[in-house]
Parts: sequence; structure tokens; C-alpha cells
Amino acid sequence: MTERGLWITIEGGDGAGKTTQATLLEEWLRSTGRTVVRTREPGGTEVGVLIRDIVLHHRGDVAPRAEALLYAADRAHHVATLVRPALARGDVVIQDRYLDSSVAYQGAGRVLDASEIRDLSLWAAEGALPDLTVLLDLDPASARARLDADDKPFDRLEAEKDEFHARVRQAFLSLAAAEPDRFVVLDATRPPAELAAAVRERVTAALG
Ligand code: TYD
Repeated sequence: MTERGLWITIEGGDGAGKTTQATLLEEWLRSTGRTVVRTREPGGTEVGVLIRDIVLHHRGDVAPRAEALLYAADRAHHVATLVRPALARGDVVIQDRYLDSSVAYQGAGRVLDASEIRDLSLWAAEGALPDLTVLLDLDPASARARLDADDKPFDRLEAEKDEFHARVRQAFLSLAAAEPDRFVVLDATRPPAELAAAVRERVTAALG
């Protein structure tokens, strides 16, 4: 019998520790014998890598609606060609960012309406929603300190002002409050091992 696939997305501001948690979760799931597909948005496919380069590294302005459509285009291709086939095989998909990031980031610019962005993404993904979304919640000041310590060049969104990141955080928290069954919200200042244990608990319950 093929095992049921499971789709887990990890969300949160830049510097919240999504990659660390994704890696710990992947290692644990593999140790239990599950096949894991690790992926991300934007940039989980070949087409997505090209789109990622435009949205994150293009110098100069991209019109807000164009930016929202580029993320949605990446998402449409990613869900259709990578996520759905993996779930159909019974794999566990661990995905860094999904449509909640679009609502939080593109909506936080105040130009676009959050429900329009969500509808656009749902249209792109033919309504697909994850089984579980882990939100690593971090206040913008701690996030900024972590990014500064990283010593990597900032991408376009990381370079936005603290006020923007505060709005992104609030947007994520409202999304989580609206869908408590899909989301688990964790305080990202907790030690990584503790966070990983909390994530494992929710994933175990979701695997049923
Ligand atoms: P991420 O891959 O987490 O960046 P990094 O490689 O630095 O860890 O995310 C890239 C950026 O894309 C992040 O600042 C948030 C942004 N983003 C959106 O604005 N909208 C979206 O729909 C998605 C998926 C990401």
C-alpha cells in the first residue's frame, strides 16, 4: 500500500530559521523511512529559478501587480509539476514558503488587497492548500539582528524597512489565527532542538 502523501509548508519572516527547521524535519522523516521532497518558493523548479531571479534580484522597480503575478506564476508551475506528483506518489513534501508568503509580503506593501492576492494564488494552484503550515514567528528586531550576523547581501525584500517587516509579521499571525487547524505557530527565539520537537509532534499527528 502506498503511504499517504503529506504537504508541509514553513513560513515566517526572513531570518526566522526556516531552513534549519526544514533540515531537521527532513532528517527525522527520512530516519522513519519516509521519502521526502524538499522544495521552496520561489524557485522550486527550473522555470521557478528564472522567476526567482527576477523577483529577488532585478534592480529597479517591479510593478506590484507584476510582482504578485510572478510569484503566482512560479507557484502554478511548482504545484502542477512538482508538488502534486510528489504527493500522488505518497511522498512528504517539505516546502519553504507558499501562498501565505504572498499574502503577507505582497499584501504588506499596502498597494494590493490581501484577499485578491490569496485568490490569485489559489487560482494559480487550483485551490491546493498544505496539510500543515509551520509559522516561525520572530519579532523584526531579532530577525534583523540574525540577518546582520549572517553577513550575506540582502535581497530586495530583506532590504525593506523594519515597519514593512512588522506588517509582514502581523499578516502571518492573522493568517494563522484564521486557519488554526492548518497552522502551528512557534516562537522562533526558542532553541532549534525544541522547535524541531514541536514540529515533529504536529507532523506525527498529521501523519495519523
Ligand atoms: P527565501 O527563499 O526565504 O529567501 P532566502 O533565500 O534569503 O532564505 O524568500 C525569498 C523572499 O521572497 C522573501 O524575502 C519573501 C519573498 N516572497 C514573497 O514576497 N512572496 C512570495 O509569494 C514568496 C514565496 C516569497
